[in-house]
Amino acid sequence: MAVVRIPSEEKVLTGQQEVTAFLGRYGIEYERWTSARPVGAEATSDELLQAYRQDIDALKARGGYRAVDVIDVRPDTPNLDAMLAKFSREHWHDEDEVRFIVEGRGLFHIHSEGAPVFALEVVAGDLICVPQGTHHWFDLCAERRIRAIRLFQDTSGWTPHYTDSGVDASFQPVCFGLSYVPSGSERL
Ligand SMILES: [Fe+2]
Repeated sequence: MAVVRIPSEEKVLTGQQEVTAFLGRYGIEYERWTSARPVGAEATSDELLQAYRQDIDALKARGGYRAVDVIDVRPDTPNLDAMLAKFSREHWHDEDEVRFIVEGRGLFHIHSEGAPVFALEVVAGDLICVPQGTHHWFDLCAERRIRAIRLFQDTSGWTPHYTDSGVDASFQPVCFGLSYVPSGSERL
């Protein structure tokens, strides 16, 4: 289950309804997907795509997504730091950023115009669609592990355009997870 943190307001959102409603204000679609059949850690990309085929097909039809692939990042992935550096600076894309997390986790920061920056930690089972043009950046959590299904309208549209605002430097890419939600946090 994803967690949202709004640092400037010292707020943390954790429930599915709260998170879904909050993200909806920014046009960000959020869903929880369950596989049609059990998928182990050793499942191939094809097996993963088969297991989530129904949800993938529904989303493709709804969002006009045409291409689907699986990205698999581990701590020993070659050139991992260089890869991560591309996405940890504020940027946007000409198409939606659509990710379904199969394993591991990651941290998006979302910076919509006129709104406070918020962090969105995604974990296995989370589907997120960040609309094209939305300013954001992305970091892995400490274990540097994520496996995700990606959907594209057109893969050429997924090049990052950097804002060079420097705003990303003001936010620590610290993942928390539910066990780290400080007690007494104010909630929306
Ligand atoms: Fe991105």
